[in-house]
Amino acid sequence: METKIYTDDSIKEAAQQIQAGELIAFPTETVYGLGADATNEGAVKQVYQVKGRPSDNPLIVHVSDPEMVKDFVDNFPEVANPLIEHFWPGPLTLIFSVKEGVLPNVVTGGLSTAAFRMPNNEKTLRLIRAAGVPIVGPSANTSGKPSPTTAQHVYHDLSGKIKGVLDDGPTPIGVESTVLDLSDPEAGPVILRPGGVTLESLQAVIGPVTLDRHLVTESEAPKAPGMKYKHYAPNAPVYMIREVADWDQAVAWGMANGKKIGLLADQSILTRFAKETIGYPLTSNHEVAEATRNLFAGLRALDEAKVDLIFVETFPEDGLGMAYMNRLNKAAGQKYFEK
Ligand code: TXA
Ligand code: MG
Repeated sequence: METKIYTDDSIKEAAQQIQAGELIAFPTETVYGLGADATNEGAVKQVYQVKGRPSDNPLIVHVSDPEMVKDFVDNFPEVANPLIEHFWPGPLTLIFSVKEGVLPNVVTGGLSTAAFRMPNNEKTLRLIRAAGVPIVGPSANTSGKPSPTTAQHVYHDLSGKIKGVLDDGPTPIGVESTVLDLSDPEAGPVILRPGGVTLESLQAVIGPVTLDRHLVTESEAPKAPGMKYKHYAPNAPVYMIREVADWDQAVAWGMANGKKIGLLADQSILTRFAKETIGYPLTSNHEVAEATRNLFAGLRALDEAKVDLIFVETFPEDGLGMAYMNRLNKAAGQKYFEK
């Protein structure tokens, strides 16, 4: 199959492919998604096949209008209204209880709940409107690999396997949406996956929000099925660097062991070790939003450069740092460089 690059002028054509049950990757503000008609069971099955994704891991249903969600949801919770008003379109996925039989089982992984989000990307909102159906969209990468933040990343992983990619350049946030579970009124709102909308900004709008216990202790089974799988991992082992003072020892250790070393760090650090390492600039001034935007692209680029190991800068786990450190911990299998 030839994988076509769709642009502004060919959104209609891309929408016709979605209607015909084909797969089209689409841009969002977080990462690129792998799109299929959410109401077409056969099309959704193909999404799992093409990604190599475990079938018990449910998908996010992307809508172009908050009203679309109400057709599916059972007992729409009041707390969702201010959230939608503040954060949609945007990087917030909401989990609701859904009416029986309104979505194919393959979308929900057989759960009685489903995930919804309205992405903040004009081209994709036009695509959904033109298709006239909600679109499922896991990240458009091969399962286990870093999520794609450019159309080229999608092409690299899925070329020949899908009908096309709607290209809108690099994604501005760089990690996936925050997944917030609203399906259990007793538990209240629970973050299952930290992402582009921070805990602090959610609390500012709706008051208390809790974190899924698995995000706090590694031993608990995650409630978002997707959180239990190996994720975001390049081929080379990744080690986190705890503090600035550790860079010298990390690089010296890699050199002593004859390793081809990749660094994903601030420009100032890359400059210091330019001779001994292959660097990918994470930030120009240790700013967490920029680091988050570049994390996945950097892991992919260093993999392409065939390094033996990758050392990555860490950030405090507040604000967007919670999402950054969540993805980095998964990519690193929780490993820090230890002196
Ligand atoms: O930013 C994003 O959310 C991107 C873009 C493309 O929109 N999409 C994305 O999809 O990250 P995916 O499939 O890679 O991640 C969806 C996450 C998974 O961790 C999944 O387990 C969880 O949401 N999820 C989906 N439905 C759920 C449900 N009913 N209950 C609990 N978790 C659910
Ligand atoms: Mg994903």
